[in-house]
Amino acid sequence: MLTVLGIETSCDETCAAVAQGPGRILSNVVASSLTLHAPHGGIIPEIASRAHLEAIVSVVDESLRRAKKTFKTVDLIAVTQGPGLIGSLLVGLSFARAAALSCRRPVLGVDHLKAHLYAPFIDRPVAYPFVGLVVSGGHTTLYRVSRFGREEVMGATRDDAAGEAFDKVAKILGLGYPGGPVIEKAALRGDREAFAFRCDCGDGLDFSFSGIKTAVLYKVRELTRGRGSRPLAPQTVADLCASFQESVVADLVQKSLRAARRARARLLAVGGGVAFNEYLRQRLQAAAAREGMRLYVAARPYCLDNAAMVASLGARLFSSGKRPSSRLNPALG
Ligand code: KG4
Ligand code: ZN
Repeated sequence: MLTVLGIETSCDETCAAVAQGPGRILSNVVASSLTLHAPHGGIIPEIASRAHLEAIVSVVDESLRRAKKTFKTVDLIAVTQGPGLIGSLLVGLSFARAAALSCRRPVLGVDHLKAHLYAPFIDRPVAYPFVGLVVSGGHTTLYRVSRFGREEVMGATRDDAAGEAFDKVAKILGLGYPGGPVIEKAALRGDREAFAFRCDCGDGLDFSFSGIKTAVLYKVRELTRGRGSRPLAPQTVADLCASFQESVVADLVQKSLRAARRARARLLAVGGGVAFNEYLRQRLQAAAAREGMRLYVAARPYCLDNAAMVASLGARLFSSGKRPSSRLNPALG
């Protein structure tokens, strides 16, 4: 079985993992520079690439150590080629190319979105055709996948990605960064029917989350008018979070099922950072059960950015015949 070292540095997490074939993850190491970005309310590219530079050697070493492997016992290096922040991508790509050159190992570039798309299949076999939803901080995309390598986009966001909307709404509410986890937590105490936020729920498969973010902003302005510097009551914040989350989740669930119906697929696969959200997972589960559809959501260690999904996809690509290219430059997407 092919042993693959995966490297992922597209955004703020420095990740390395070792996989044996696409399904056996021997190690999965993530070092996040999140705390350095949090005071700025978002990712600062320059800080991210510097943090990658500082972390990459020890993260890769740790992933090899945990997997009881060395560069000499690895057959292939798979590295995220894009899309992502150029400075961040360059750190991973340069490291992978240098390591491959010195150890005489092949190196394959992997598409970050496809890695999220196939992440639900790391711990189970892929069944085609399926509809895949990649829902992260940078993307919200629906694919119809008829076979490996044939991934057609059925719908995508026209403006903000779902995760980005969580991040921006958290910022509006002063809850910090990243927004997903804090909004999910606050929403647990909130009433999801308190405010009627609506996503653009046309009958297509594209998404639009920028309108709902603005609707939250206007609602917050209205609620804070005349309060001076007094912040909103915690219950109001919780209600805003629950109502916002409800509308995003309802839209994601509705369009994913619609896409599966249109593609005549009986399997829906969901990956990406927002798939970490328990409420989304539960709503998807309930909707899939109602439709008699199978649902595979990526296991939590493979939702947020990680290199296990990169190593796993690298193994699939290599076994399907993809060979290294000498032009392994960032693909900005
Ligand atoms: O996949 P990911 O780690 O990076 C990208 O490829 O973008 O996704 C990060 C996004 C962020 O926007 C973050 O707020 C969101 O995933 N996220 C969540 C949750 N955890 C992370 N969104 C909703 N609920 C969560 N629990
Ligand atoms: Zn990602």
